[in-house]
Amino acid sequence: MKTVMSEKGVSISSKLKSALYLYDAYKNKGFADATRTILHHKRLMGYLTKYVGIPVNTADILEIGCGQIPKQVALFHKEGANIIGIDIDVPTYRITVPIFLKIIRTNGFERAVKSLIRHFLFDKKYFRDLSREYGQKVTFDKLDTRIMDATRTAFQSDSFDFIYSNVVFQHIDNVEEAVREVNRVLKPAGIATINIHLFPSLSGGICLEWLHPEQSPSAKVPPWDHLRENNYPVNIHLNKMTINQYREIFRTHTNVIEEQTVTEGERFLTREIEDELTNKGYTREDLLTRTALFIIRKKL
Ligand SMILES: C[S@@+](CC[C@H](N)C(=O)[O-])C[C@H]1O[C@@H](n2cnc3c(N)ncnc32)[C@H](O)[C@@H]1O
Repeated sequence: MKTVMSEKGVSISSKLKSALYLYDAYKNKGFADATRTILHHKRLMGYLTKYVGIPVNTADILEIGCGQIPKQVALFHKEGANIIGIDIDVPTYRITVPIFLKIIRTNGFERAVKSLIRHFLFDKKYFRDLSREYGQKVTFDKLDTRIMDATRTAFQSDSFDFIYSNVVFQHIDNVEEAVREVNRVLKPAGIATINIHLFPSLSGGICLEWLHPEQSPSAKVPPWDHLRENNYPVNIHLNKMTINQYREIFRTHTNVIEEQTVTEGERFLTREIEDELTNKGYTREDLLTRTALFIIRKKL
């Protein structure tokens, strides 16, 4: 199975710098930010209430790409939902020796070491903050998380009332298969919300220096470097799709009932950069749209 790490064209020194940046981001920049997690959870609950209209403790829910710390799975579990989180990698919120060996086998050695360091340095504080922000103890016991590829799930058709996914689809090569799979396993009265971090956006190359352009723009890496010289490559696998390519796939295979976008970076888009990137086929919308959220119903 393929993980999100990509080993192509990234030097050891870039990897070391990125590890240091990650450390700093966890320590000082709110990488594991419990306040943001709770806000996100409230938004997801809002979609469930507005579009599906059933009590959370009766809902069958699927998270696609629940990540190393399946925080939303833990919160929905706490609220009594029947929730399953899937991810192509082994979650690393609990690390014992056998789990660590499994993490090395599945996620690769480099990612395993990073997870181990994160786990021992930062997870305890994040778990404490999460319980404080939520107002009750949130535990990560007895969660149903499964290692599974979003393009080939093991679920029966019409299984879920609510499917959601946050910043995952940009890592998937065969997005069409994943979207068809969402449509297949969604119940006819259900809803899916798929939020995608768009590659052509200023932060879309996942260069840590540009992850939050409005709050902390980089003084070192030129804007949109990942579409231009690519002098600061990152070792994360991205499918490089544009918003229109996603639109086409979602419209073909599902009923899109709403699309929400978040923009960023207009002040960094000089005329020269825009001309250079327009010549490469990117539109102004591509360059300035950070995320697209597709809210969809099943196409029967
Ligand atoms: C940027 S992380 C987002 C994690 C989580 N959704 C969050 O919001 O914190 C992307 C996740 O997508 C997972 N992923 C990538 N490709 C996948 C696939 N084909 N099927 C399932 N999960 C996948 C990765 O392993 C990773 O955990």
